[in-house]
Amino acid sequence: MEKKELLYEGKAKKVFTTDDPEVLIVSYKDDATAFNGLKKGTIEGKSAINNQMSNNLMKLLETKGVPTHLIEELNERETAVRRVSIVPLEVIVRNVAAGSLSKRLGLPEGTMMKRTVLEYCYKNDDLGDPMVNEYHIYAMDLATEQELADIAKMAFTVNDVLRNYLKDLNIDLIDFKIEFGRTSDGTVILADEISPDTCRFWDSSTGEKLDKDRFRRDMGGVEDAYQEVFKRLMGH
Ligand code: TMP
Repeated sequence: MEKKELLYEGKAKKVFTTDDPEVLIVSYKDDATAFNGLKKGTIEGKSAINNQMSNNLMKLLETKGVPTHLIEELNERETAVRRVSIVPLEVIVRNVAAGSLSKRLGLPEGTMMKRTVLEYCYKNDDLGDPMVNEYHIYAMDLATEQELADIAKMAFTVNDVLRNYLKDLNIDLIDFKIEFGRTSDGTVILADEISPDTCRFWDSSTGEKLDKDRFRRDMGGVEDAYQEVFKRLMGH
């Protein structure tokens, strides 16, 4: 499969068209940003780790009935995926209080919550991805009621599957962000990526952060954390 034209360049990935109008090639970058692009840097080796890790997790999710955009891994950094139009929502699932939820609600990081929390943010960089609820989503026509019902159900399945899988690797899944896309026939499938860029992973024994928070918060050991998660995942 050959790359044709650069369709889109995001903060962490480039997306290319191919000869097949239904197929795109995603090429991961080592570039890292945080705070809506305000903080910029590089995480050496991230592209290969995120590509392969995301593909492995999507493969696992497919076996559990979650449809994904994954077609085929082409090399360490590149993957062929189904072309979708992205539903402009960041779908966030939270098991333990951390990050922006901790700030917003005054719950110290690490606080266990009685229930899993589902949040939506409107994907709009100019607005800083503001949080929205179902009323906003329907009022702005970002998704239909059926689409959102499907999205919520898939998001909880993703949480259950990944949480169980990671538990065996001695990793707690604190929270994560996923995105969905519509195929040409209107089916909603899981798209984008699942990686230490988009999840909070804490070592179950030590509580050590094994994700992009190390970059966001200048904690050091960023590359080592990505490598550690990857090693546990691939050794499994
Ligand atoms: P938050 O606590 O900063 O809202 O982040 C919640 C989860 O979403 C966390 O696992 C990190 C992930 N995330 C992204 O993938 N992209 C983003 O732009 C942000 C802000 C968070």
